[in-house]
Amino acid sequence: MFIVTNTIRVKSGHGHELEERFRNPKTVHEFPGFVRMQLLKTQDTTDHEEYVVSTTWEGKEFFEKWVESDSFKGAHAKRRESKEPSTILGNSLHTYEVVVEHLPA
Ligand code: HEM
Repeated sequence: MFIVTNTIRVKSGHGHELEERFRNPKTVHEFPGFVRMQLLKTQDTTDHEEYVVSTTWEGKEFFEKWVESDSFKGAHAKRRESKEPSTILGNSLHTYEVVVEHLPA
């Protein structure tokens, strides 16, 4: 399994707006190889709010196909259309290979 996280920093007070944008899945959940997506809120930040979009895939190749797909473009189209100043301060991407996993017995 393969995990990709996108960490998004937003201006203080604007976290709920970001949460709402993620509330309903668009199309990622229908994509081949998709396992799960979670929006995690980083605890104890002070001068900004931070969220981690964590996506789990059956393998790296499935994630790479999704990034090149219309599903990815569609999920991020609003960003390009919007004329409002963005409340997003920045983002950073991290990728992980799942090496060991234990599940409840
Ligand atoms: C380039 C920087 C990026 C920014 C600022 C960003 C921000 C966002 C925002 C605000 C949304 C909500 C969509 C909406 O408002 O209509 C979204 C959707 C999403 N983003 Fe990104 N994103 C970026 C790149 C990525 C990357 C590299 C990943 C890979 C893990 C990712 C994963 C997702 C997922 C899984 C969704 C939900 C898609 C769905 O429901 O179909 N994003 N992103």
